[in-house]
Amino acid sequence: MRFTTIGRLFSTLAVSLLFVAASYGDSITSIPTPSAWDNQSGSTLVINSIDSTGLITGTYVNRAPGYACQNIPYPVTGWAYGTAITFNTIWQSASASCNSITAWTGFLYQGKISTLWSLTINGSSSTSQIIRGNDTFKQVKKLVEKSLILRK
Ligand code: BTN
Repeated sequence: MRFTTIGRLFSTLAVSLLFVAASYGDSITSIPTPSAWDNQSGSTLVINSIDSTGLITGTYVNRAPGYACQNIPYPVTGWAYGTAITFNTIWQSASASCNSITAWTGFLYQGKISTLWSLTINGSSSTSQIIRGNDTFKQVKKLVEKSLILRK
């Protein structure tokens, strides 16, 4: 009787461990390049490259409600250091300028990039004018199109 109870406990523990391992199993621990990431507001960060020093290049399309400069790819630069990441963009382009810059800083953890951001408007004179928030980015899954020849 006692043995059965202990046996059940062990099998429950083993199954729970398997579930935990499975849910963490597909989490990436470094940022792939190229990769695209959408945040909770529908904006998209594309990381085109991360060089050997950690220098990031990419683009950012803002789709957050309540903000201007939408649906235009703005250039992104930044740094990746292990799972830590910072990136920024200037909201300035031939098609639309918002006279502002945003800096994000955060980390990759369990497949998501969690960040805090600060938006500074050109001409600001007090840190109280800096708008702050947080964005969480999830990787946009790539569609793997198989060659028509191989698809058999
Ligand atoms: C501006 O309104 O001055 C430029 C657009 C700012 C969009 C902000 S940046 C932080 C937050 N995350 C987004 O994806 N968009 C908003």
